[in-house]
Parts: sequence; structure tokens; C-alpha cells
Amino acid sequence: MEQQLKQLEQEALAKLAAASNLKELNDVRVAYLGKKGPITDLLKGMGKLSPEERPKMGALVNTVRENVTAQLEARAAVLEAQAIQEQLEKESIDVTLPGRKIRQGNRHPLTRVVEEIEDLFVSMGYQIAEGTEVEKDYYNFEALNLPKGHPARDMQDTFYITEETLLRTHTSPVQARTMEAKKGEPIRIISPGKVFRRDNDDATHSHQFMQIEGLVVGENIRMSDLKGTLDALAKKMFGAEREIRLRPSFFPFTEPSVEVDVSCHKCGGSGCNVCKQTGWIEILGAGMVHPNVLEMAGYDSKKVSGFAFGIGAERIAMLKYGVDDIRHFYTNDNRFLSQFHRTEE
Ligand code: PHE
Repeated sequence: MEQQLKQLEQEALAKLAAASNLKELNDVRVAYLGKKGPITDLLKGMGKLSPEERPKMGALVNTVRENVTAQLEARAAVLEAQAIQEQLEKESIDVTLPGRKIRQGNRHPLTRVVEEIEDLFVSMGYQIAEGTEVEKDYYNFEALNLPKGHPARDMQDTFYITEETLLRTHTSPVQARTMEAKKGEPIRIISPGKVFRRDNDDATHSHQFMQIEGLVVGENIRMSDLKGTLDALAKKMFGAEREIRLRPSFFPFTEPSVEVDVSCHKCGGSGCNVCKQTGWIEILGAGMVHPNVLEMAGYDSKKVSGFAFGIGAERIAMLKYGVDDIRHFYTNDNRFLSQFHRTEE
């Protein structure tokens, strides 16, 4: 029996040493020290021994049990430490690794132009009006003194949705809509937005682009008011030294009508490739609101007058930032757009 006991002890100690994790260790404990284990069996079998042998064997079994228990605890401590170490390594963070860069967005160049122009006009007491991109033929053309069949309609062919609805060709319908809504009250608005034309896309044309419409209606509104306002606009967008020049033009909804040029911001007026050697760059169309347009919207053209202008947002952005192809604004190419990072004034 003593022999058996020694062998059990050797076996248990060998398995303890071999246990590679806490679970295996526990299995060994149950197998050798548990209630159904061989050591317990041996203790139970003590009754068969002679009274002289009993205390001797009892002491021996106890020593073996204590020894195995002590080894088990020592091994458990080692395996526990090992488990904690593994856990820590798994969860460790290298605080010296460089962080992931958060990419900062920026405003689209067209948005910037629109917002700068909005800021200027809001500071002069204008309100910002909104129009719809899908527009009625009536507001896009008729109410602007362009009846059906008017030859000037050909200059602005567009995408028709029905006979009477279309994608607006300019932001000018906002003029007619605002006048109709204000019912004879004075008006001072600007209205930015998308417009559409049946154009073939190239470096300077796009079937969709942006305009910013301006409209002022009230008593004693004169051409000189228009000129002063556009002068402020040119200086704000292209620099304090800029000057403007008005050239006669034609729009059915303004009379007189003008094209407005700004002195070239690149050469200052002496002539260069940007201004095609003329010293001047065309930036917008404008004029005094045609009496017919005022009357159709319910204003008394004998008592009130007004001026209106339409700015091409892309054109301003191209000139201001030196962009050579209008399509850059729409392709969402980050190589282009990211150039406008951190250049905010
Ligand atoms: N709507 C005109 C265009 O798109 C521009 C314009 C607006 C002209 C307001 C005069 C007054 O060409």
C-alpha cells in the first residue's frame, strides 16, 4: 500500500507539473484529491488495516495529500500569473504609435463664393430668398417679359418636364415670385441656386451651374444705385482697387440692360491672358427692372422702380481662384477640392 501511495504521489506531481493552464490543473486536483479520487479511496480502505499499521499509514496518506496540495497551490500561482500576463499583453496599447489622422473637410469653392456674396449683401440689408429648381414656364419666361415664341427664349433652351414645367434656366424667376409675394412692398433680396441649360459641357460651359440673383425694388431706385452696389461687389470679390464698367446689353426683363466688367485682378488693367489682353473681365448681367415685369407682378411702374442682376457663381470662382475648367467644380476630385484647405481668409 505504501508502494501504491508513493506511485500515486509521483503520478500526481508529474501531472501537476505538466498542467499548462488553470483548467487542466483543476482536472488534476479533482482526479487525485477529489472525493472519488484514489487518495480518498486509500483512506477509506484504512479500516482493513491492523490497528498498529493504521496510524502509520494515516500519517503517510496525509503527508502525500499535503505534499500534492502544496504543489498544486504553487503551480496554480504560477499559472494564474501567466494568465494575467497574457491578458495584459493582449490588451496592451502602444501609446507611442502615431494616431490616425482625422481628415478635415472644407467648404466647396462654389459654396465659398456664394457665402461671401451672401455676407456682403446681408451686410447691406438684403434678405436671402430661395427659389425652386423645377420652375413653371410662366415664372422662368412669361413673367419676365418673355412670352411664348419670343426669340430670346432660344438663348436659354432647357430641359422641359412638361409643356409648362422646366428646369429653370436662370435664377431670375425668383424676381417674379418675390414681387408677386411682396404685393407692392419694397424688396431687397439675393437668391443663389442651381440653374440648367441645354448646353454641351466643355471647359467653360455646363448644363448645370449656379447663379446668384439680386433684386431691389422701391421708390427712386436708380441706375446709379445698381452701379454703386456692383462696385461694392467687385471690390469685395476681387480687391479694393478693382473698378467696374457697364456696357449696353439686352435682357427682355431689364431696360436698360448692361453687361458688367471688372478691371482685371491679375494685370490690373494693362492686359494679360486672364482678361484676353483687354484689361476687363465680364462678370455679370444686370439692368433696371422692365416696367412690364413690375406691372405683371402687381407693382405700379410709375411709382416704383428697381434693379436686378445675375451673377454666375462658377465664373467668379474660376476668376478668383484661377480655375481653368468649369468641370472641376462638379467631379468631386479631392486633388482639386483639397487645394481649398486652409486657404480660408
Ligand atoms: N438672368 C440673366 C441670365 O441668366 C442675367 C440677368 C439677371 C440679367 C438679372 C439681368 C438682370 O443671363
